[in-house]
Amino acid sequence: MYFDTHTHLDDARFDKDRPSVIKKIADSGVTLLVNIGADMESSHAGVKLAAENDFIYASVGVHPHDTEFMTDDDVEILRVLATEPKVVAIGEIGLDYYYDNSPRDLQKKWFRRQIELAKELNLPYIVHDRDAHQDTMDIIHKTGYFRGVMHCYSGSIEMMRTLVDWGFYISFAGSVTFKNSKKAKEVASCVPIERLLIETDSPYLTPEPHRGQRNDSSMVQFVAQEIAALRGMSQEEVARITLENGKRFYNI
Ligand code: NI
Repeated sequence: MYFDTHTHLDDARFDKDRPSVIKKIADSGVTLLVNIGADMESSHAGVKLAAENDFIYASVGVHPHDTEFMTDDDVEILRVLATEPKVVAIGEIGLDYYYDNSPRDLQKKWFRRQIELAKELNLPYIVHDRDAHQDTMDIIHKTGYFRGVMHCYSGSIEMMRTLVDWGFYISFAGSVTFKNSKKAKEVASCVPIERLLIETDSPYLTPEPHRGQRNDSSMVQFVAQEIAALRGMSQEEVARITLENGKRFYNI
């Protein structure tokens, strides 16, 4: 009944035991997940995982960390990959000014270009924004294409309201369970429920009470549990609504 809308199951940390992790995820009540592309290699790997597993879908795209050497040819390869039947979105794409692994002008260029690709393909897109709120909002606004989700949301309530007005979805990961994530908890308690998504971003951001362990999609239940507590809802209700929202967003 859970939909983990953002995970990196192709990550090397799952290389030793991926089939048993997939079984564990299915046994935990996760009925859908989207493997998120972060570079060309993981985009290909996600398409393969989706072809091999009924409940797995994939997105394709290049993360801001890896835009330094991105080329027009890569965009054309992504365009072809996106025609695979279980590819449901472009992403993750965006800006990361915390790590600055790629020069900012190139991050911006390829963020814009990949939103345009999503628009050309009539697909939704997944945004990574770390310490780059203003430029992220400016670029999205300039494209005029708002079929997106802000993943692992870290902005203000005010920014959330602007995004929701544009038509965006807002997604929370395991970090919303951390005691010091006061701002994320505030936003999670007041996002319009029909725009709320949940995710693990695994193997990163392991939720409480399992911090320190490797994260996987079976832990999305702890994100649902936290949001249920914040909003005074049952965990089942959060699971059901975020599953419906995710299917609507990804058109599954
Ligand atoms: Ni991610």
